[in-house]
Formats: sequence, C-alpha cells, structure tokens
Amino acid sequence: MLYDSQEKYGAVSRFFHWAMAVLIFWQMLKLFDRINEGEHWVGQVLVPWHISIGVLLLVLIIVRIGWFMSQRANRPPVDEQLAVFVKVGHGLLYLGMVLMPVTGLAYMVGKGYGLTVFGVQLVAKSDGIAWLASIGGLHPYIAWTLLVLIAGHIVMAFVHQFIKKDGLLQRMLG
Ligand code: HEM
Ligand code: HEM
Repeated sequence: MLYDSQEKYGAVSRFFHWAMAVLIFWQMLKLFDRINEGEHWVGQVLVPWHISIGVLLLVLIIVRIGWFMSQRANRPPVDEQLAVFVKVGHGLLYLGMVLMPVTGLAYMVGKGYGLTVFGVQLVAKSDGIAWLASIGGLHPYIAWTLLVLIAGHIVMAFVHQFIKKDGLLQRMLG
C-alpha cells in the first residue's frame, strides 16, 4: 500500500522516514570532524558529501511535508494520553529537518564559500553576506538539538517495542 492508513504507514511515508533517517545519520558524521581534525576514514570518505546530501535532504523534506499534508487525515492514531507530547515531538523533528539544510545553505552562501551540489556549481564564491552568515552560525546548535530529539525519539520507539510491547514500530516497518 502506497498510502497511509489507520493501521500503518504506507510505503511512501516509510520510504521518506527510513531513507531520511539514514541520510541524517550520515550528516551527523560531520561531528567526527572534531576528532583528529577529520583526518580519518569517516572524515575523508563520508563527510565530504555533507553539502550535497544536505541539499538532497532539503528537497526530500519539502516533498515529505507535502506528502504528510495529503495523508494527515488518514494516519495511524497516536497514543491518546501522550498525544500532545507526540505531536510536539514529531513537529520539532520536522522543524529540525527543515532548519538544518536552510541554515547550512545560509552558512555557505553567507560566508561567501559558494555552493556546489553533486559536482554542479549552484552559487559562485562571493564576498559573502554578513546577516546570512550569522543565521548560518546557528547550524551547529540546531544540529545538537536535533541529535538530542532523535535520541529521545529512538528511546521512545524502543520503549514501545520492548516495554509496552504494543507493536508501534511495526507501523513504520510495514
Ligand atoms: C539535514 C541536514 C543536515 C544535518 C543533519 C547537518 C548536520 C551537521 C552537523 C552535525 C555538523 C557539525 C556541527 C558541530 O561540529 O558542532 C554540521 C556542520 C556543518 N554543516 Fe551541516 N548538516 C546538514 C545540512 C547541511 C547543508 C545543506 C550544508 C550546506 C549547504 C551544511 C553545511 C555545514 C557546514 C559548512 C558545517 C561546518 C560548520 C562549522 O564548522 O562551524 N550542512 N552539520
Ligand atoms: C533508529 C531510528 C528510528 C526509529 C527506530 C524510529 C521509529 C519511528 C516509529 C516507530 C515511528 C512511528 C510512530 C507512531 O506511529 O506514532 C516514527 C515516526 C516518525 N519518525 Fe522516526 N525513527 C527513527 C529515526 C528517525 C529520525 C532520524 C527522524 C528524523 C529526524 C525521525 C522522524 C520521525 C517522524 C517525523 C515521525 C512521524 C511520522 C512521519 O511524519 O513520518 N525518525 N519513527
């Protein structure tokens, strides 16, 4: 089933969830630049894709929000007692997924570094734009906040799976 239903998320929502989860995990490897100034396999092979994958994630989140809007009347219901908590939590995850690439772009263009995505130059190097660079300066702070939110999200998924044993994870696994 492509579409979501009351029982489970459909193939399209599951694709967005897991493909983006993997790519976001990849993006978080940028933190490894703090170890030995990135002079290791992760820093040399995986992290150089940061900007291209970041822009890909921006495209994916725009389409995912559109898909979410089209499906929202017919998705698996959230736990009634925790409804506000779950909705705010998922809302913040969406916000983080929008703000990360937006501030990343602001960083590159604001600092005048230009923008090259999968080998295609989209913005040339320039003198930079100071106000845009200061918005870009928020990128690492939002990254750490999103990391904490994701950790909480994963813990809750495991609480449902192993403590509540209510099969919630299955709704996202198909
Ligand atoms: C969902 C998308 C993204 C995630 C999850 C993400 C995550 C991160 C993380 C975890 C860091 C390391 C922060 C730290 O060391 O404290 C970082 C740094 C950085 N990111 Fe991203 N990023 C994303 C998208 C982008 C995009 C689209 C760009 C550029 C177009 C970008 C450019 C940068 C740059 C230039 C840095 C280094 C900043 C510095 O050294 O202060 N990121 N990002
Ligand atoms: C090992 C990693 C992960 C696991 C086990 C996991 C598990 C789940 C589960 C079981 C649901 C369904 C919750 C429900 O039906 O109420 C869900 C939904 C959701 N997850 Fe994750 N998740 C993971 C990673 C992520 C990441 C990295 C993000 C994004 C930053 C994310 C964002 C979301 C969002 C926004 C929803 C709401 C459904 C939607 O609109 O797509 N998840 N997750």
